[in-house]
Amino acid sequence: MRKVLVTGGCGFIGSNFIRLLHSEEADVEIINLDMLTYAGNPKNLADLEDSSRYKLVRGDIRDTNVVESLVGDVDWVVNFAAETHVDRSTSEKAGEFIETNVYGTYVLLDSLRRASPKARFLQVGTDEVYGDVPYPEFPDETARLEPSSPYSASKAGGDMQALAFQRTADMDVMVSRCTNNYGPYQYPEKLLPLFITNAFDDEPLPLYDGGTQIRDWLFVDDHCSALLLILREGKSGEIYNVGANQDPEVPNGELTQMILRATGKPASLIRPVEGLRPGHDQRYAVSTEKIRALGWSPSVDLEEGVEKTVAWYRDRRDWWEAIKSGAYREYYQKHYGKL
Ligand code: TYD
Repeated sequence: MRKVLVTGGCGFIGSNFIRLLHSEEADVEIINLDMLTYAGNPKNLADLEDSSRYKLVRGDIRDTNVVESLVGDVDWVVNFAAETHVDRSTSEKAGEFIETNVYGTYVLLDSLRRASPKARFLQVGTDEVYGDVPYPEFPDETARLEPSSPYSASKAGGDMQALAFQRTADMDVMVSRCTNNYGPYQYPEKLLPLFITNAFDDEPLPLYDGGTQIRDWLFVDDHCSALLLILREGKSGEIYNVGANQDPEVPNGELTQMILRATGKPASLIRPVEGLRPGHDQRYAVSTEKIRALGWSPSVDLEEGVEKTVAWYRDRRDWWEAIKSGAYREYYQKHYGKL
């Protein structure tokens, strides 16, 4: 039986990953350590609640006692636990980002080093650590790190902790860096779920800075299958970029049009806004040659993925309405004001 500790497994990518792992590996025991902050929702894994191979532990990756009690005999640790929203990292205090994304990663690694030094550790990272990438560059895993926001700077710090433990404690550690994910269970502060759910309710779509920015949109299932492959076949000490490499690249404005088409809503919902994201990066892109050489490629094309995502949010109004009627409203009003 393989024992896997997943941190932040009640969040968007973590919950999709746990579902995949649970279905792909019959002989696996999954422990999900999640603090259940605003973006973590146990309902994201309601379908696994009765499984004998899945257990949720509510706790903080910064808490050495909790972490030590869980890493005793683990085979894999996958670290998704993170503060992730760029806008919150610039408009609110970023201390939580640094504490969770850097110090929390350190606590996991240090506890693992003492309890299970042979375990495999995967640090789930972001392409945002490469910063704003001028066209037509596609940074590979050796590219210089130039994070722009307190969020991406904290993720770069987490990556560095992971790689430092690999080197100094000879641990089996890998880092992945994915492009922007989208799909079911994404908290509606991020572009796709925000625009989709606002569109359903005929609310404005706050498109920042002319909508010319480019992200490389990756369907979450494709990301999760890459992570599983890295865990199975990746090499210790290595970094793996994971991205869809859209060709041609899709600016936010065009993505917004796709969302409008898929929801059947008019372009008049678009509300151009300036200045809400200081230091807004123009383009993210990565080279994915290394993960493709391991045998991975994305299987969901963007138009299809947007349609699937819209269909999911259409079906799961219960899921996102519960979020949007809670503490989310305070953030929304503070950040977007009167649109
Ligand atoms: P986001 O979903 O926050 O992801 P990230 O910042 O991690 O890339 O933002 C994706 C892009 O969408 C980014 O260029 C900012 C833009 N954006 C908007 O135009 N309006 C919004 O309300 C949000 C949240 C993002």
